[in-house]
Amino acid sequence: MIAYFSVLVLKKCKVLLKRSEGRQNIEYHTGRKNINRSPKEKFSEIYLKWRNRARQIVKNLPSPHFHHVCARQVSISREMLQQDALIQQIKARIYPLLDNDFGHGILHSELVCVDGAAIIQREMNSPEKAPELPREVIRNMQLIQIAGLLHDTKRKEQDHAEKGAEFAQQFLKNKEFGITSLEIETVSSAIAQHEAFQIVSPEAATASLISDALYDADKFRWGPDNLTHTVWDMVIYKNVPPRQFLNKFPTGLDKMAQIGQTFRTDTGKQFGPDFINIGMAAGVHLFKEINSESMQ
Ligand SMILES: [Fe+2]
Ligand SMILES: [Fe+2]
Repeated sequence: MIAYFSVLVLKKCKVLLKRSEGRQNIEYHTGRKNINRSPKEKFSEIYLKWRNRARQIVKNLPSPHFHHVCARQVSISREMLQQDALIQQIKARIYPLLDNDFGHGILHSELVCVDGAAIIQREMNSPEKAPELPREVIRNMQLIQIAGLLHDTKRKEQDHAEKGAEFAQQFLKNKEFGITSLEIETVSSAIAQHEAFQIVSPEAATASLISDALYDADKFRWGPDNLTHTVWDMVIYKNVPPRQFLNKFPTGLDKMAQIGQTFRTDTGKQFGPDFINIGMAAGVHLFKEINSESMQ
């Protein structure tokens, strides 16, 4: 279903792109005169305008089912992220290292932590009405939140998953944290395996709840979050010319659709495609608007 949707989206976007071909020198409207401003400033202004539009579009779309159906798990997860002593210790050390200007900073990591620990609760069948969560559920929630906080510490580097895993291995050895070597191995191998479209070797792919939940919570971010935050931070950081960005937009949507087929946990498979569909719907809407604006 997603693959079919993807082909349709790609065709539609290519038609729109073709219509605006030959307009390479288009000045996108920013509402300001482009006097004495560097290309970077001009590009940023265009992207921030498109980001605002994307945020409006996403606001008018339904929010992901996951956040309704799993509201209880999400709320428990959020509480852990804000109050758990071990998590606060790790946050204090890691937040200064995160790349907030590249779309994979504190906000991204926290969303991965919250959704990841909600996935853990569902996957471990944590009882709905128990006064307290079982100890092993709490420990796995802590581990996924640690993995969520650490997974993109090397996001600007080549092979960021591998490098992030190496960093996590060293960082977590600190005795203050009280994390066993087996747990360190679990977290660092989850980080090593979180990258999109990465071919994972059969041994490395050995099913691990932490690893699969980290992957799924991270790929939930390819939905609306991508359009409201991530992509704009990345193109502004890399100073990508807007025309180049638009030319690659249909391919980006196609990749989004492909991600929809890679979720690993049952929870991810159940709710992940909905995140992706919302992101794609917002992307197609935005792309149409930008193209119709550039034709005026
Ligand atoms: Fe990553
Ligand atoms: Fe990430």
